[in-house]
Amino acid sequence: MKVTIREMEIADIPIMMELEKELFSVPWSEAMFSEEIKGHYTYVLQKDENKEIIGYICGWKLLDEFTITNIGITANFQRMGFGAKLVKFIISKLLYERCFKFTLEVRESNQKAIALYEKIGFEQIGLRGNYYRDPVENAVIMRLNMLQKIEGYDS
Ligand SMILES: CC(C)(COP(=O)(O)OP(=O)(O)OC[C@H]1O[C@@H](n2cnc3c(N)ncnc32)[C@H](O)[C@@H]1OP(=O)(O)O)[C@@H](O)C(=O)NCCC(=O)NCCS
Repeated sequence: MKVTIREMEIADIPIMMELEKELFSVPWSEAMFSEEIKGHYTYVLQKDENKEIIGYICGWKLLDEFTITNIGITANFQRMGFGAKLVKFIISKLLYERCFKFTLEVRESNQKAIALYEKIGFEQIGLRGNYYRDPVENAVIMRLNMLQKIEGYDS
């Protein structure tokens, strides 16, 4: 199946609301997506065939560090490589901008997301106690430093 990654637009927000309700117990609001779009690191993944949006990724860059704040792939299209495609897309985009450090937080029970991030190279570096609500749960903090992946690099 052919897909395209493009920038998220305000007009996409109603679809984002639907996907969020499907995927998360505490969905993001319209206002959160509007704010996120202003940060310019918000992308959707759509099917070429009919332009249906089946996934999205959001994040913020602060100096030389990028935080992935949200990612989702609609249930019918999970485990087909699209989540990994979005994460790799955003990492490569940030590398072009000379940003090498990536962080994120994920629910401790979200083993499929943790497996996805670990497969890409993120490491678990700590926990934030009772960080999430509905249900209350710890956040696992994960980090990827692309420079440290280069053998012998010691800065
Ligand atoms: C987490 C999520 C984005 C993964 O997207 P995806 O498109 O299904 O993931 P991919 O197909 O790219 O999987 C890549 C790797 O992640 C891991 N993975 C993904 N889903 C998995 C599952 N159900 N069980 C175990 N490992 C899984 C595997 O290592 C997989 O590689 P493999 O298929 O070669 O074994 C998706 O499950 C999702 O949207 N979940 C709900 C929202 C969410 O939890 N977002 C994360 C918030 S931090």
